[in-house]
Amino acid sequence: MGFWGEARGLDERDGVKGVRGEFLGVGGGVVYLDGNSLGRVSSGVRGGVVRVLGEWEGDVVEGWHGWLGVGREAGGFIGRVVGAEEGEVVLSDSTSVNLYKLAVAAVEMQKGRGRDVIVVDRDDFPTDRYVLEGVARERGVEVRWVQGGIDEGVGVGDVERVMDGRVGLVCLSHVAYRSGAVADIRGITEVVHRHGGMVLWDLCHSAGAIEVGLAEANVDLAVGCTYKYLNGGPGAPAFLYVRRDLQDVLVQPIHGWFGQTDQFAMGDVYEPPKAIERFLVGTPPILSGVAALEGARISARVGIGPIAEKARALTGFALKLTDAWLTPLGFRVASPRAAERRGAHLTLHHPQAWQMCQALKAAKVIPDYRPPERLRLGFAPLYTRFEDVYTGLSRLRDIAAEGRHLTYPAVPRGLT
Ligand SMILES: Cc1ncc(COP(=O)(O)O)c(C=O)c1O
Repeated sequence: MGFWGEARGLDERDGVKGVRGEFLGVGGGVVYLDGNSLGRVSSGVRGGVVRVLGEWEGDVVEGWHGWLGVGREAGGFIGRVVGAEEGEVVLSDSTSVNLYKLAVAAVEMQKGRGRDVIVVDRDDFPTDRYVLEGVARERGVEVRWVQGGIDEGVGVGDVERVMDGRVGLVCLSHVAYRSGAVADIRGITEVVHRHGGMVLWDLCHSAGAIEVGLAEANVDLAVGCTYKYLNGGPGAPAFLYVRRDLQDVLVQPIHGWFGQTDQFAMGDVYEPPKAIERFLVGTPPILSGVAALEGARISARVGIGPIAEKARALTGFALKLTDAWLTPLGFRVASPRAAERRGAHLTLHHPQAWQMCQALKAAKVIPDYRPPERLRLGFAPLYTRFEDVYTGLSRLRDIAAEGRHLTYPAVPRGLT
């Protein structure tokens, strides 16, 4: 049958293939393997944005009666996708700002219990490291680094080794941004709780890609973006999750009027509600909020089970092609091989990964480059076909075999 026949067969049997037609631009001749950076636009998102433009035109300020509920409604869809309970997720600000708000709230609560250490992954996404180091400096606590390796990610044992009675908060990414390694969210959360700490998970690379199971894992806090696998569009607002029992006790540091009880009473004193809305700050961006809502609606409708199953099948097929075609040409798989440890992207190490990336783009395949020397291929399950995986990887094989990448300049100094 060959790999092409296998790809066609897998596409035939794909349980979520019907959704691909809802995405715009998919038939444009480009093999898009970067939905893990920016997802595609759907007809639902376009319709939602056009609808709000019409409401703005017709209703002007009266439109707010409907728009005020966008963040919670989107939070409902996202909550279903990440396995949270109703009322535990809301759309708000950016991932970086949400991380700051929730980290400060947790640090302040834990300081009151004599805990003054935040545990952070040395290899985590830059914004997480920068924000958390800033929080530590500002709030007079210490950062303690944990490191599991840039390809393997942080394991339960790595966390266990850094825990003691001083650790108040542990912040980690569920899926590592470089390699796609999936952390054991349940095991790590359990270890941290056993030592009296709280956990804050970054779900940017897992929301809409794989099962998260926040309630099942008894996670305290989480943040994530909506512009990757949730297809909310460039700069769409992020989401935050706070477990119900923590919503009355945590106090976030930015006391804005959207986080106030009876906001329009314009009261003298800040009195946040005992609800997820206490973590809001100011006027939300409704055009991109509606885009995030409509993007997340699709994932909630399809269900994270079938989405995650397809993600594992796509990366599994990509691994098979890599072993057959690319390993003999000097590529090394930098992502974990076990299905349960893979996110929805596959990362390949190659000394000339940067040039490979440029050559792929010229061949109408859009990948991503991440230093050091890694090619990141994202397989957004809602619209990526097995045929696309075949085409993308066969073009990469041909580029490497013919040395076409060598015609591109070496990686710029800052990106090595
Ligand atoms: C793991 C992770 N955290 C955070 C961010 C970005 O956060 P923000 O939306 O605030 O730019 C990204 C962006 O790609 C990311 O991959």
